[in-house]
Amino acid sequence: MGNGMSKGEKGVSSSSSETGFQDYMTDILNKGTLAIMLSIGHRTRLFDIISSLNNPSTSKEISLKAKLNERYVREWLGAMVVSRVIEYDSAHKTYWLEKEKMDFLTRASSSYNFAASMQWIPILAQVEDDIINCFQKGGGVHYDSFKRFHEVMAEESAQTVVAGLFDFILPLVPGLEENLMRGISVLDIGCGSGHAINTMAARFPRSKFVGYDISEEAINKARSDGQQLNNKNVSFNVNDVSNPQVMKTNFDLVVAFDAIHDQRDPANVLKNIARIINPDEGIFLMQDILGSSFLEKNINHPLGPFLYAMSCMHCMSVSLAQNGTGLGAMWGKEKATEMLKDAGFANVEVKTLAHDFQNYYYVAKIT
Ligand SMILES: C[S@@+](CC[C@H](N)C(=O)[O-])C[C@H]1O[C@@H](n2cnc3c(N)ncnc32)[C@H](O)[C@@H]1O
Repeated sequence: MGNGMSKGEKGVSSSSSETGFQDYMTDILNKGTLAIMLSIGHRTRLFDIISSLNNPSTSKEISLKAKLNERYVREWLGAMVVSRVIEYDSAHKTYWLEKEKMDFLTRASSSYNFAASMQWIPILAQVEDDIINCFQKGGGVHYDSFKRFHEVMAEESAQTVVAGLFDFILPLVPGLEENLMRGISVLDIGCGSGHAINTMAARFPRSKFVGYDISEEAINKARSDGQQLNNKNVSFNVNDVSNPQVMKTNFDLVVAFDAIHDQRDPANVLKNIARIINPDEGIFLMQDILGSSFLEKNINHPLGPFLYAMSCMHCMSVSLAQNGTGLGAMWGKEKATEMLKDAGFANVEVKTLAHDFQNYYYVAKIT
């Protein structure tokens, strides 16, 4: 496949900044493909299997334990070794995963499983043709075109929202946990597969929880997980939250985890939320992407390229596919605050969590 990228090969002398850029591009080519290999390692459970083996193992031992084809496993291991993810003993042809790396690559991870997040890259890649068509003709790519979206979103949500819910996110609102213990009504807007709300329902049996999502697939999963948890205080409905007709009941707490910026009509959704929130004590807790509305302020964002790409190929596009506003994931704090105020929230606080550089937490009240 040789792409002839070695330096100076074309006999053109390059300045040091050109060389730097060439190295940068080479690095991206390597890492872009590596991201897909990491995703494969997650989906085939190879990282989990290699960790469980505990000892340096041959490709045959690994593939037997994983019930996978040895030839494919060996080539994947090659990619992992040259990228310094997996260790290799050439004398014994054995492979192993160092303990400190297991924590970032396995399902048993107590920190953040990056291999799970790498699944976003192939999810985006599958709609590349459709997105190019949108570049040429406008429009967008519908949610249904993103195969495995809800499954991967649920995994992501488990390790971001759910993992931090009780220790970090709910404590952002003083007194909220006590109120949930006592018994209040809660609505989750764009609840997806319902991980967050099912977890809260199990923890706070005196409160009543409702989840709305436009996706039937996501709501079915949320319902079956709720039944498995034997949650009696939660219900899920396939609903379009931009429709004022379905946003009628009042709630003490409305939450939206990563579910506002990709709406068809986010301004209307925020207005619907403001209308159904208990006007005295009600809280709207909105988790959304950490960023500025001004591109120049996002240049050093640690996840800037990933977030703009996700926005272009998914968040903005799913909104445009419904003739929506195409706000995009990088709508930013300034725009979000302004839209919350326009919707009727007079009191908006923007909070961050020390360990979470991807999200803002907006605590909004009517008065
Ligand atoms: C990025 S996902 C977040 C899902 C979930 N909150 C989580 O954290 O896993 C956004 C969700 O909003 C839902 N959604 C988009 N537009 C909607 C609408 N108009 N009404 C209800 N749900 C909507 C999508 O189906 C999707 O599940």
